[in-house]
Amino acid sequence: MTEHVITPLVERRLEETQRLLINGHWQTASDGCTQSINNPSSGEIITTAAAATIEDASKAVAAARTSFDNHSWTGLTPAHRARVLWRVADLIEANAAEIAELEMLDAGKFYLGALNGEVPFAAECFRYYAGWCTKIEGTTKQLSIVPDQAFHIYTQREPIGVAALIIPWNGPLVQAAWKIAPALAAGCSVVVKPASQTPLSVTRLGELMIEAGVPDGVINIIPGSGSSIGRWLAEHPDVDKVSFTGSTEVGKQIIDSAKGNLKKITLELGGKSPVIVFDDADLELAIEGAAQAIFSSAGQVCVAGSRLYVQDTVYDQVVEGVADIARTLKVGPATNSAMDMGPLISLQHMQGVYRMVEAGLEEGARVVTGGNLLTDLGGYFMEPTVLADTSHDMSVVREEIFGPVLVTMPFGSNDDITTMANDSEFGLAASIWTRDVNKAHRMASAIRAGLVWINCHGIPDMAIPFGGYKQSGWGRENGYESLLQYTELKSVVARL
Ligand code: TAP
Repeated sequence: MTEHVITPLVERRLEETQRLLINGHWQTASDGCTQSINNPSSGEIITTAAAATIEDASKAVAAARTSFDNHSWTGLTPAHRARVLWRVADLIEANAAEIAELEMLDAGKFYLGALNGEVPFAAECFRYYAGWCTKIEGTTKQLSIVPDQAFHIYTQREPIGVAALIIPWNGPLVQAAWKIAPALAAGCSVVVKPASQTPLSVTRLGELMIEAGVPDGVINIIPGSGSSIGRWLAEHPDVDKVSFTGSTEVGKQIIDSAKGNLKKITLELGGKSPVIVFDDADLELAIEGAAQAIFSSAGQVCVAGSRLYVQDTVYDQVVEGVADIARTLKVGPATNSAMDMGPLISLQHMQGVYRMVEAGLEEGARVVTGGNLLTDLGGYFMEPTVLADTSHDMSVVREEIFGPVLVTMPFGSNDDITTMANDSEFGLAASIWTRDVNKAHRMASAIRAGLVWINCHGIPDMAIPFGGYKQSGWGRENGYESLLQYTELKSVVARL
């Protein structure tokens, strides 16, 4: 059977309004307001979720502040905190099927993809940061400028305080794990704001975190409007840090909102990542990789390989190869495991992606394949689309589309391709496809992006720092680097 049947467990959950987690209690919004949650595969409303008000957000920040100031979490030993985070991972795995179903229902992820991908990845993220809890260290220093006196000088890392974690819709569970796990490992208390469209898996994660033993107030989860409570969290004087993933436009608004108390900011923003195929590459591998880089999750991935540059001698062959794959992809509901590409997140987003393609065509681009909406499928679907005759003065090449739309361009020399690849306001990721090791590493060095893959694209890991140059963001997620961004560094100088 290819159609996933919703389990009674999840059905029962959807019958109830999803609630807010504030100070360890699950509650409705203070004004009783709810928002509808849609299934992007069908366009149908599947449940409702409490929409947090400013009053709720205020309570959530107060709970986080109190738990932090009272050392509810930092008062536990690092080993104890590590065990709690490890237990979160175990509980995620124990409830993997349910969480995967939730991720399928509101975020449009394929069930098996979520079950074997996002869910274990989120669990491993908690394990990775559980390991760091006992390894947050300072250093000792020696003075050079006061030679005749004895000093003991050391640094220590301290949690930054209360962190607001603002999550996008394109990978709700994993994006939440990428922020919550390092923040808690560092000792912070957090207020999580999931995207309005996708609160389901993050809400379930909150339940598991309470079950695992995260103390009341250390984690608060408040789905609600970004432009009201998201902005309000970014402005709030009792919030010490905001970590945001989403559009570059909103990232810039967050900088403005956060300036009141100069809170620290991490921004993981958009991209327009180049996929660069040289004529000496394993072309079969490169063609498959390029198709996967743009069509996986229907292109709704910040590191999607949305600009394909191919050396002119093999340009036609590679573009036709990617287009052939695009033509064979089965597009349909995430509930159907026989499909290869699922829905876009919403009607509004689908229309936006389509408008971008139309603008590209008006500017002179040519459709190699795709270009149409698939409105008869019920949800929000679009054909995998490959465009040719595109150039760097076109919006379709310059702007992030966040859909299954690939622009393709030929290049001649290594110099040409470096200039073309770097000619973007974004600098999130890139992939280089060649059999020449020297060329690969020289290009990796020349590309101005936070993540460069060689002969692969989109391989993530908790250990790999993730983030962008230029307008793709500030700071890094994952790795020790992410943990550090939830800490302050203190130097202590003691005369002996
Ligand atoms: P955004 O508007 O950037 O939303 C991301 C998160 O920020 C959501 O939780 C959103 O809440 C919240 N938010 C919105 N306005 C805010 C504000 N003024 N202050 C604080 N938080 C705010 O992204 P979107 O509308 O979901 O998608 C638009 C475009 O963003 C996409 O087409 C894509 O280009 C890009 N995008 C990029 C990424 C990554 S991973 N880089 C992820 C998602 C989207 P609401 O959900 O309530 O609006």
